Amino acid sequence: MEMLGEARLAAPREQVWLALNDPRVLQASIPGCESLQGSGDDAFHASVVSSIGPVKARFAGKLILSKVQAPRSYTLRAEGSGGAAGFAKADIEVSLEALEPSLTLLRYKVQATVGGKLAQLGSRMVDAAARKSAEDFFARFGAEVAALAAAGPQPAPAPLDLQALAGPAVAAIAQAGGQERGQERGQAAPPPAAGARAAAGLLAASAEEVAGVLASECIQVWIADHIALVTLNRPRSRNAMTLAMWRSMPAIMAALERNPEVRAVLLCGAGGDFCAGADISEFAQVRDDPAQARAYELAVDACCDAIAGLAKPTLAVLRGYCLGGGAHLAMSCDLRFAAADAVFGIPAARLSIIYGVHGTRRLLALVGLAQAKKILFGARRFDAEEALRIGFVDQVAGAGARQRGRWWSRWRGRAAPGADAMAQARDFARTLADNAPLSIAGAKALLNGMAMGLGALDAGRAEALIAAASASEDYREGRAAFAQKRAARFQGR
Ligand code: COA
Repeated sequence: MEMLGEARLAAPREQVWLALNDPRVLQASIPGCESLQGSGDDAFHASVVSSIGPVKARFAGKLILSKVQAPRSYTLRAEGSGGAAGFAKADIEVSLEALEPSLTLLRYKVQATVGGKLAQLGSRMVDAAARKSAEDFFARFGAEVAALAAAGPQPAPAPLDLQALAGPAVAAIAQAGGQERGQERGQAAPPPAAGARAAAGLLAASAEEVAGVLASECIQVWIADHIALVTLNRPRSRNAMTLAMWRSMPAIMAALERNPEVRAVLLCGAGGDFCAGADISEFAQVRDDPAQARAYELAVDACCDAIAGLAKPTLAVLRGYCLGGGAHLAMSCDLRFAAADAVFGIPAARLSIIYGVHGTRRLLALVGLAQAKKILFGARRFDAEEALRIGFVDQVAGAGARQRGRWWSRWRGRAAPGADAMAQARDFARTLADNAPLSIAGAKALLNGMAMGLGALDAGRAEALIAAASASEDYREGRAAFAQKRAARFQGR
């Protein structure tokens, strides 16, 4: 019998890992477990009373851990003999994915065999009993882990290089101002003019402002497994972006760009939504007259350009509302992974706002002229299915999972395997994180430049990127790995 499954556990991965290795927690979680004691490294003796159909027996056996990769995965071999009832043997591969600071995805694969009287019960009865045991185990294990997490320390935010934050933000905004002015006149982007630099000085977030946004946790940054998770965190306002948040993002992106540990970036919203756009409640203070509106749009474009301009791959995880400026944030990422409940729209025509130049260009590049007009003129909301059909998002979680996870859907509070946009985005980000960073950065610069229209692609920079990749250590490493039939270890240089 083979069984696949997953469970979301409300605790940091390290805590789940400790629980998976804790005899007390395991004993409390295994249905019918009377005792479970360590017997040397990575092994336990256990006694379990179990009923399968009409057969009830006490199984004495052992659990042996192998292929241990703390805190990510192990294989658990369970062997038990129930005397006259027969025996059961299982290999259980367990892996832990850190989805969010306090959310861990546990995946398992069980291969089990039974013998003796148990084998005569028939596979349907044995399968049903095994699934019920797994269900009971994870319900109990989840409760144990949640209790441990509530009692333990909360995960700390990622240390960002705050000292150097202000400079890149100023540069990004100056470039946005210069580029936009040039593009409006149909010219290639000139170097930032003195005027643009002065405007940028007024617009750019100071290190204190960025530190304030991070300290207030309006934007959270968390790094695990080479993937940075940037979370917009104002769930009570549906993660609406304040001016301080728009202004701080370029500096945060610059810090992630510099961090060699980061190979990919996920952008998501806290709670049930991605982002309901700009914070309209502060418009009277910060976006009142045309001059303020112009400065505000520059800050939005600088934020979105900084996300789009990151040399590392960026993936948006879209749940709930993704509206207005939230849609611009999502479109600035390289790929969009949506939950089935995601709702999209650009309601500028309901607020008498013209969506900015960069956002409109990104929309056009994603969905084409007719759909872009439909979205902007209509200002109506559309769902994940339509977003996928018109190319606004790249993947919708849960599509195709219904068949695979039929029995799974009976589990209360647990999505069918593959039904979680964050898990899908992480899986994809991990595959990108293993690929050559220079190739990704180069392809991204070329594609984004072409998608944003003539003038936005810096041909000189494109040639320089291609030449640098050809001269890189990674290029030699890629060829050597191919020749030696091994996975390449890319360093990004
Ligand atoms: N700016 C500021 N606050 C916002 C916001 C935004 N863009 N979007 C939502 N909020 C706030 C609401 O004011 C409300 O705050 P309150 O609890 O203090 O009243 C809270 O978030 C919850 O929103 P609410 O409207 O009560 O929830 P809902 O489920 O009925 O509707 C939305 C959700 C997102 C559809 C709706 O809030 C909305 O249309 N928001 C504006 C979206 C928009 O126009 N964005 C483009 C801005 S350029």
